Amino acid sequence: MKQKADLAVYQEETPRVGPPTDPDVLLDVRNLQTHFHVMDGTVKAVDGVDFSLKRGETLGIVGESGCGKSVTALTIMQLLDMPPGEIVGGEIWFEGRDLLTLAPEQIRKIRGADMAMIFQEPMTSLNPVFTIGDQISEAIILHQHVGKKEAMTRAIASLRAVGINAPERRVKQYPHEMSGGIRQRVMIAMALSCNPQLIIADEPTTALDVTIQAQILELIKKIQADSGAALLLITHDLAVVAETVQNVAVMYAGRVVEAGPVEDVLLRPQHPYTLGLLNSIPALHKRGRKLDVIKGVVPNPFRMPPGCKFEPRCPYAWEVCRRSEPDMMDTPGRKSRSRCFLHAAEGAARRYEFEKAAVATVTAGLPEAQA
Ligand SMILES: Nc1ncnc2c1ncn2[C@@H]1O[C@H](COP(=O)(O)OP(=O)(O)O)[C@@H](O)[C@H]1O
Ligand code: SF4
Ligand SMILES: [Mg+2]
Repeated sequence: MKQKADLAVYQEETPRVGPPTDPDVLLDVRNLQTHFHVMDGTVKAVDGVDFSLKRGETLGIVGESGCGKSVTALTIMQLLDMPPGEIVGGEIWFEGRDLLTLAPEQIRKIRGADMAMIFQEPMTSLNPVFTIGDQISEAIILHQHVGKKEAMTRAIASLRAVGINAPERRVKQYPHEMSGGIRQRVMIAMALSCNPQLIIADEPTTALDVTIQAQILELIKKIQADSGAALLLITHDLAVVAETVQNVAVMYAGRVVEAGPVEDVLLRPQHPYTLGLLNSIPALHKRGRKLDVIKGVVPNPFRMPPGCKFEPRCPYAWEVCRRSEPDMMDTPGRKSRSRCFLHAAEGAARRYEFEKAAVATVTAGLPEAQA
């Protein structure tokens, strides 16, 4: 009986109703659920995701491949293929409106003008048969209601703003005439050309060479700071998160399992999955430590564990983790929250082992002088 009462203390608060009360909140995603109906059954790709983003703020979403990052982004932008996709529940409050209640026509107006997306592979979102000048100016004409000539002038200015040389010449080129790095700059110019309030970048540097990756990341940081837009950056790379964003949400099996300011989550991780991700960064192993890969694999979507979704891979799991599922819980002394029973009353004894391991990992990752 006591055990039950202890757990109840950490249950989620009563669901919020209506638009966010804080006017600074630009995007408020609540209990979002996106499923795919496929031959073998239903894949719960996004299974109760919550996060919010204030105006001008930067949030990273991080997690292994297949954990639902892209589907979360595509659901917000309403660019999902439906079917097989279906948004089965939740709310997406953006600028005071729940996007899931709007008509497709209203969504089209918002997409591209108020929120824009940068994809991993620009070739898939650029049209190969139109010049890039035509493609950028088309978006400007649609959303800013200016003439063709003025739109082209603005397109050239936006290419210059993302560091493209001789933009007057570039606007006449087709996507295949450019390198991957330049194409990604074009995508960023396109996303920015209508001054969006929110930029969603899904693995924007993953397809690029390492040196170009750093340049594109710098560019994204600069345009975010200059434009004051909020940035939702999706990546599997914790190093990118550490360099780019203020807040981070770690996703596993379609849920957020840890969220908070980047310095809390990366330097004082509170979830065994986050610790596993940190342990698998090569840079943390420069002093001869073996690279730890999180044991096991992401669970089969048709056979999810009944309790905590990370339980089959978690070195700290115990009986309660197999039986029930943790909610997000506050973590003492930190602004971050974690979906883990180590933060419930009956996890206290085990938490010490976890914290010892977390300190060892983070200390190993600090520069030599500080370690
Ligand atoms: N069109 C689709 N049809 C069926 N399943 C899909 C589809 N798109 C994504 N999924 C599934 O949804 C889950 C999450 O995918 P995704 O969001 O792309 O992961 P990631 O975190 O790597 O971006 C995966 O299990 C993936 O196989
Ligand atoms: S709830 Fe249990 S199994 Fe899940 S991450 Fe925490 S300790 Fe591991
Ligand atoms: Mg993805």
